[in-house]
Amino acid sequence: MNTNEHLPNYLDQSDAVKNRFDKLKQRQVILEVKHLSKIYKTAQGSVTALNDINFKTHRREFVCVIGPSGCGKSTLIRILAGLEPHTSGDVLLDDKPIHGPGRDRGMVFQGYTLFPWLTVKKNVMFGLEMNNANTEEAAREASLWLELVGLDKFAHAYPHELSGGMKQRVAIARALVNKPRILLMDEPFGALDAQSRAKMQSHLLEIWRNVDVTIVFITHDLDEAIFLADRILVLKAHPGEVQELIEVPVPRPRIAGDYASPEFLATKARLEALIHPPKSLAEKEAEEITITQHMIRFVNVEDNVE
Ligand SMILES: Nc1ncnc2c1ncn2[C@@H]1O[C@H](COP(=O)(O)OP(=O)(O)OP(=O)(O)O)[C@@H](O)[C@H]1O
Ligand SMILES: [Mg+2]
Repeated sequence: MNTNEHLPNYLDQSDAVKNRFDKLKQRQVILEVKHLSKIYKTAQGSVTALNDINFKTHRREFVCVIGPSGCGKSTLIRILAGLEPHTSGDVLLDDKPIHGPGRDRGMVFQGYTLFPWLTVKKNVMFGLEMNNANTEEAAREASLWLELVGLDKFAHAYPHELSGGMKQRVAIARALVNKPRILLMDEPFGALDAQSRAKMQSHLLEIWRNVDVTIVFITHDLDEAIFLADRILVLKAHPGEVQELIEVPVPRPRIAGDYASPEFLATKARLEALIHPPKSLAEKEAEEITITQHMIRFVNVEDNVE
């Protein structure tokens, strides 16, 4: 039975959702990616990580990027951050080409990147002091941002005294303290347990509501992308190309119960179809053969557990 047959079409939008998108698209374009390609040259040959990627992100938009492992998500975000040169095409932030890293872009990665020898507050102050802010001013700013992420009580704690979710909240405060135009996040909650992850997603939406920042968020978790995003950029692998830019039809504000809403499930079904397309029988058989032929067994073959 097709379990999707009673779902609405993911392209259908309620009037409220449609109005939101109409307004969103009238906002200023913050980020524009035009014909972006990236080829890595390695000793084994060339790898086309990204091929002719095009999209625009509007002010205060929340864009998620999803796609199978190796499709170029991290490459894309590293290019946007200015940490990786691109091979061809243009990346414009406020109409100006990106050259190297800059204060106008904040980054939060999956791994915890706080300095373990600095307190929470000093970690947040670090970026400001690097940019020549005086200590008093940096301390004041850091306190404000720690309050926003709900960690003002932990200002004098050290990173090892915090949970994974709290560390990522400090990382978000540290990225936002420089007031970037855009916040780039590469699987920031990927190392958290399911419960902390869900809390962090709601928390991030709350922060985003209160701050004038555009977010590009990489994930491979379909639920996370639908819960967070205005639009989802779906990439496919080898070479990394845009498959579709989906406008998420789930209304805002979003709550955990939305996971079961028809709009949510319809979007998820579409993403599943794009990311895990059904394999043909021949493909499945070919995979099974490869697995059995290459499988090394560390037990007596007679001793079957199934
Ligand atoms: N520094 C590098 N040198 C050569 N090839 C690279 C380099 N970084 C990435 N690649 C290749 O580029 C492609 C895209 O890699 P990337 O890390 O951007 O994918 P990803 O979508 O972030 O994957 P994952 O979901 O596993 O994090 C892969 O084929 C990868 O092997
Ligand atoms: Mg990656």
